Amino acid sequence: MIIVGGSSSRDLAKEMATILDCTYIQAASTRFPDGECYTRIDTESLDDDVVIVQNTYPNDNLIEMFLLQDAVRRMGARSVTLVIPYFGYARQDRVFKPGEPESAKVMCRHLDMGCDRVITIDIHKEAVLDHFTCPHVDLKAAPVIAEYFSSKGIDLVLSPDIGAAGRAKDVGERMGVPYDHLEKTRLSGVDVRIAPAKMDCQGKRVLIVDDMISTGGTIIAAAQALRDAGAVSVSVACTHGVFVNNAIERLTGSSLDTVLCCNTLENQVSHISVAGIIAEAVRKG
Ligand code: R5P
Repeated sequence: MIIVGGSSSRDLAKEMATILDCTYIQAASTRFPDGECYTRIDTESLDDDVVIVQNTYPNDNLIEMFLLQDAVRRMGARSVTLVIPYFGYARQDRVFKPGEPESAKVMCRHLDMGCDRVITIDIHKEAVLDHFTCPHVDLKAAPVIAEYFSSKGIDLVLSPDIGAAGRAKDVGERMGVPYDHLEKTRLSGVDVRIAPAKMDCQGKRVLIVDDMISTGGTIIAAAQALRDAGAVSVSVACTHGVFVNNAIERLTGSSLDTVLCCNTLENQVSHISVAGIIAEAVRKG
């Protein structure tokens, strides 16, 4: 097996190759003067099962993924597995208003042309993957998040909304602590309102879990609501730290004690590794 690391996920791909004890090749990635993507896998042949690790966000990374799919086939890959740690466009998983595209489906249909298997992690809506015609699996980061926080004295695990309630349950059960979800109302792209928690937070060390943080609006409002309810510490762990604009600064400057995410998107707080979980899935085949 050969693991090819795209430019979005080099450290993760390298870590997977170490765990799987297989060859790692880093794809070269540059831009032409006009901004178009150029990529190259500098090796003689890829006559093996090949795993490409690359995000499909932001747009340049999606293009790089398409180019890598073509390159590995041309180099003789026997099979191509796509590991897409963060799957872009998954949130537009249906037509919300007439005239809109079904963006997630469009992405699946195009990626589907060059692969034999797809692995994602905590994709926003799992049903999106059914648009692939090849075998696919969505892995969960809950085990590594629970493991990371199990020695941190957490009393309560909460999700910021009902959509992530299953994640809070999974993490809470693994840590052996109570869990619940908050009630969120989205006011705008950035602002949300969080209703007071139903569970008693007085004196508690709370961990908020979510699939992703984008602007940080959700988590900042949730942390403030929990502080107002008497929580002594509020930490957050998400799978995908998208962190648009100055979200990390806003989060670290808020009432949160700890801000962490997994390394599906590599940044300064992506200290929880999903390499082992993905490596295990790749090994199983
Ligand atoms: C929503 O369904 C998601 O799970 C996240 O809660 C949301 O995308 C976070 O966005 P933001 O950080 O912009 O509030």
